[in-house]
Parts: sequence; C-alpha cells; structure tokens
Amino acid sequence: MIFNLFNKRKKMEIKLEHHLDSIAIPANLRINDQIKKYREKCSKIGCHRPYHHFAFGQSPFSPPAEIINALRDNANKHSYLPTAGIAELRKAVSDYYNDVFKLQSQARQVIISPGSKEIISIILSVTEGDVLIPTPSWVSYLPQALILKKQVQPIRLHEDSHFKLTPALLEKAANNSSHDQHILILNNPNNPTGAVYTEDELKALATICRKHNIIVIADEIYARTSFDFSKFISMGKIFPEGTIVTGGLSKDRSAGGYRLGIGVFPDNEKLIKDVLIVAGSTYSCVAAPIQYAALAGFSRIEAVEKYMTDTARIHATIGRIAAGLLNNIHGVKATVPYGGFYLYVDFNEYAEELKTIGLTNCANLCEHLIEVEHTALLPGNSLLLPEDDFSVRFSFVDYDGDAVLENWKRENPSSEQEQTAFFKAYCPLINQGIQNIERYFSQVAEGRLPVHA
Ligand SMILES: Cc1ncc(COP(=O)(O)O)c(C=O)c1O
Repeated sequence: MIFNLFNKRKKMEIKLEHHLDSIAIPANLRINDQIKKYREKCSKIGCHRPYHHFAFGQSPFSPPAEIINALRDNANKHSYLPTAGIAELRKAVSDYYNDVFKLQSQARQVIISPGSKEIISIILSVTEGDVLIPTPSWVSYLPQALILKKQVQPIRLHEDSHFKLTPALLEKAANNSSHDQHILILNNPNNPTGAVYTEDELKALATICRKHNIIVIADEIYARTSFDFSKFISMGKIFPEGTIVTGGLSKDRSAGGYRLGIGVFPDNEKLIKDVLIVAGSTYSCVAAPIQYAALAGFSRIEAVEKYMTDTARIHATIGRIAAGLLNNIHGVKATVPYGGFYLYVDFNEYAEELKTIGLTNCANLCEHLIEVEHTALLPGNSLLLPEDDFSVRFSFVDYDGDAVLENWKRENPSSEQEQTAFFKAYCPLINQGIQNIERYFSQVAEGRLPVHA
C-alpha cells in the first residue's frame, strides 16, 4: 500500500538558478572528504600504505587553552546578540589591530562574523564593481563572486615578481573594467604561494588604488602566521580609507571550526550599515559562547601571543624544509613561503610527458597521484589557473600538531641540522609524501604512466 502511494507521487520539478551550474563544490573540501574515507581503507586489496594529505589547509594544532576554557566558561550564554558582535569583543579587536597592526580603528568599525569567509562574501555583496583576483588564488574568492553574479577579472601573477601583485598589473586590470570602482582581494600572507608583501610594495599598490578607485578587501587571516612578524604590514595601515581588513580565529589561533571572523572597516557609516543589513538578515549574530571565547583570543593574553609565535616558528621550519626537498626534485619548482602553511608547486616542466601518458590536465594528475602514490595535492584549476597548468597547492600541515608543539617546546631545535632531524622525526607523512612525488615524477620523466606500488 505504502509502496503504491510512493509510486504514484509525481516528482516535482524544482527550477534552479543556472548561474550556479558553473560552480563546483570546493575541491579542497571534496578531496578532504575523499582522503578521510580512503584513510580508513585503500581500494587496493592488501595495501596498507598511508595517505599523505597536502590538499587541505587546516591548522594542525589545538587552539590555545585560554580560548577553549573561555568557550567552556561561557557555554551558558544563549541569547541572541547584536549583529555586529558584543561591544567588548569589538573593542578588543579594534585595540588589538591598533596595537599589533598599527591601524587607527574605533570599535564601531569592527564587525564580527561566522568566519572571515562570510564577511568577505557580504562585502562583495554590498560593494559595486568588478572583482579583481590575483591568481593563483585561494579557492573560494571566485565562487563567492560568481554566486553574487559579479564580474571577475583574474590577474595572473608571475614567478619573476615572486607571485606578488605589481602596480602595473593592477593598473591594467582597473583599466580593463567598465566600472568606475573596483574591488581588489589582496591575500597577505598568501594562500597558496606563501608570499608576504613589503611596506613599499603595499604603498605602490595603494597609489594605484587611490588613482583608480579600487577598494581593497585585505584578507589577512594568516597575518600572525608570518614567519617574521616584524616584517608583516597590514594594508589597513597603508590605505585606511579604502581597505577592509579581514581576519579571525581560524589559522593563527587554530580554531577554524569555531567559525569566528572579523572585519575592520574604514570609518564609513553607510558601508558598515549595509554590511549589517545583510549580516542581520542572514546570520543574525555569531554564536554567543564563541564570541566570548574570541575575547580571550584578542585580548593580548601572553600565553596566546606566545602560542602564535611558537606555531609560526614551526610553520616556518616545516615550510622551509618542505620547499627545499621539493625544489631538489628534478623539474619541480616550489615557492619558498614567508607565512601561512602553503607552498605553490609547479610541475609544468613535465607538461608534455604528462599529456603523452594521458594526464591531460592538473585535476587528472592530482587524482592519479592520490590513486598511485596516496598523495593528495590541490590542483591549479581550483586556484583559478587554466586546467592544463600543472601547478598545485601543497599544504604542509599533515602531522600531529599537539605532539609537534609539545616536542618543539621541549627540544627547541634551533640549528638547521636540529630542525631537519625534528622534521624527519615528527613530520614523517610530509617527508615520505615528498619522496612519493619524487618517485612519481621520475617515472613520468621516463615516459611511463606511474602505477600503484
Ligand atoms: C586565504 C583564506 N582566506 C579566508 C579563509 C577563511 O577563513 P575562515 O575560517 O575565517 O572563514 C581561508 C581558509 O581556508 C583562507 O585560506
């Protein structure tokens, strides 16, 4: 009877917005789910080789105890809160950015959001103009702009400028746009290249921004992971009238899943009001206990600041060693990072061989590397590069963060030799994964399609 009823029910046609057809589920999330599943079991019978996961950018450490404890202590806070965030947190963020990043903000210029991803999307939704995205870029800027039906201008960056945006490239993009205002997303330190801009480079970009009416979304979510923080300069300091600085708890404080981001806006009442209209009509407010936990993250507590310095040193060490090992592989070029936890790796030297053995684009190559070498990389097409560009993002965080941090504090490796020994002892999946890549390309160089070992 029930069966018949179901059978008779007509399937309803649901019409969907067509502009979403061209947007895929973010490759980093898709590959992360895939590797989690594969880690339980390889599809090849009898295979027990581990998987090496370099396709996802999550801090490997637990958040600082002070933030976790504050979350626990505030679990009873359950009321809706002001959309912009609690006053204490907005003030703490403003003070933090003024002290540490040398901004000149007031608490009223700070908005708290569920992740910096959300505030970037809202900023795009309220501002007019083409979106200028330097590439290779973070995976989410393009889909965000496309969801909002905005025009996008990718700006291809080059090795000779260390994959940094130059004033000439920015000016050219502004001249190509039909609008009289443009929105630049400037990610510094950069995901995926690890580049960090100097003060002079930012000043030169600010000159072009002023000349061509370019608003900057300065995505500085990796700021406190800068390997030499004394060299990090915020675009909010250089171009305060046109920059919205975004950040949060996810990367330097390792609490991505808490979903708390911040935006520090120019002192522009209408812009802030429009952002709050969208925020209030979509997410209402960030979860109350999380806002109180974030207060501990932005109050300059000594232990939290030390945590960020220690973990940035670990990223610096692993990034430098991983870049060195990758650059030692014949025909492979990797960027040397100055912040964050990513490298940008170029396999294009092997483009002809890869195409000859049937791997016609970078997504095919990355799929094949997972199958054959159990090694996951994020393909260049997700970084807004052409499909046949064989460049990838390599996240160097596949290790047990808590064990590494504890041993780092105990051993305090300082010489190059000590740090290399530390890397080999505590980051075996990264070390071995790079050897897998080397073995793979040695076969490609011989014109062979590599096979599962
Ligand atoms: C460059 C960049 N910007 C923004 C984000 C988003 O961070 P959040 O967790 O604050 O949304 C990420 C996260 O991967 C990122 O890599």
